Amino acid sequence: MRNCVRLLSLLVLLTLALGCGNVSPEKKRDSTFNVNAQLEYCADQAAKTLLLIPNDSSSLPRNIAHDSKEWRFIDYKDWTSGFWPGTLWYLYEGTNDKKWEKEADAFSRYLTPLSVTPALDHDIGFQVFNSFGNGYRLTGNPEYKDIILKAADTLATLFNPKVGTILSWPRDVPNMEWPQHNTIMDNMINLELLFWASKNGGDKSLYDMAASHADVTMRNHFRPDFTSYHVVIYDRESGKKIKAVTHQGYEDESMWARGQGWAIYGYTMVYRETGDKKYLDWAQKVAQVYLDRLPEDLIPYWDFSAPDIPKAPRDASAAALVASALLELTTLTKDADLAKMYADKAEKMIVELSENYLSKEKNSAFLLHSTGHKPAGSEIDYSINYADYYYIEALLRLKKLKAQKS
Ligand code: GLY
Repeated sequence: MRNCVRLLSLLVLLTLALGCGNVSPEKKRDSTFNVNAQLEYCADQAAKTLLLIPNDSSSLPRNIAHDSKEWRFIDYKDWTSGFWPGTLWYLYEGTNDKKWEKEADAFSRYLTPLSVTPALDHDIGFQVFNSFGNGYRLTGNPEYKDIILKAADTLATLFNPKVGTILSWPRDVPNMEWPQHNTIMDNMINLELLFWASKNGGDKSLYDMAASHADVTMRNHFRPDFTSYHVVIYDRESGKKIKAVTHQGYEDESMWARGQGWAIYGYTMVYRETGDKKYLDWAQKVAQVYLDRLPEDLIPYWDFSAPDIPKAPRDASAAALVASALLELTTLTKDADLAKMYADKAEKMIVELSENYLSKEKNSAFLLHSTGHKPAGSEIDYSINYADYYYIEALLRLKKLKAQKS
């Protein structure tokens, strides 16, 4: 009898071993990916950054050059000022450690003047919703709510009803035919602030402005193959489209990686907020063309038409942003195969970032190899705060998705 049991155990072990041998290296890699270990890595890195932050008025970490360990710090007016407090809020969410709540609160409060001064540009959404928005979601602090509602009203002052979109850059930017009306793809993200405000005590017209912006952008910002233009210029009086150009991409007709990322993330969010299927359909289409044209490792070059591919710089920030967007898109997609494809691709992107793009001992950011503004020669192959923000957001979304499945 004992021999029989031994034989049976041996057979079971053999079957298991053979079974494992059939798993492809990629699948094996994914199934062993440890989200919690990556969240711990983020907490360790952020703790190092906290020690490096100077105690003066420019106290927010923005970027680190590829040959440096030193953060460049910015003040609250910088368009990226919300990403560091937002990252701290995500650390609080991921660890439940009050230490992160205290830091997140302090760095968020530093941005308060944005809610009571005239709009610098559309970025007030990135700034205030990533900081106070996450803070309110996690704590329900009424002071944060008040600031978010004021910021939404400030953003709404840039809405031009003749065009039907927000004026993204209310200033002279080269090639934008100022004082005509410009709208950039990035602006899609900031509609979330308006939707949120309209449902949480703000004026209902904020909802209509956000929906109008999404519709007009859908009509004018995309080519027939669903790749996006970075900027559209409109006649500010007649509302007519004058031209579509790039600012941060390789050329007017190319697909700038992060711009397409903003479109995927933006239309996914607009569908979540409105429930209108046309936005889901759009998010799926703009995601598909991006996925179809990615290199094998799923991390885009900074622009899909960059002339020096495969030597062109990558953009880890676009990869992190899109991974996070796909993890939301998967939860909103009814077609099971399509939903699984989004989840699988997103996880592979996160695994690739976690295996080959970590800053580790090089510097105290989370990720290396992002590209900010290649045509201007700025932030090329850098660590950048928004790459880190979307990376940790994607990790938290992946963790949630895995928890729901198990
Ligand atoms: N919103 C500016 C950028 O994506 O670089």
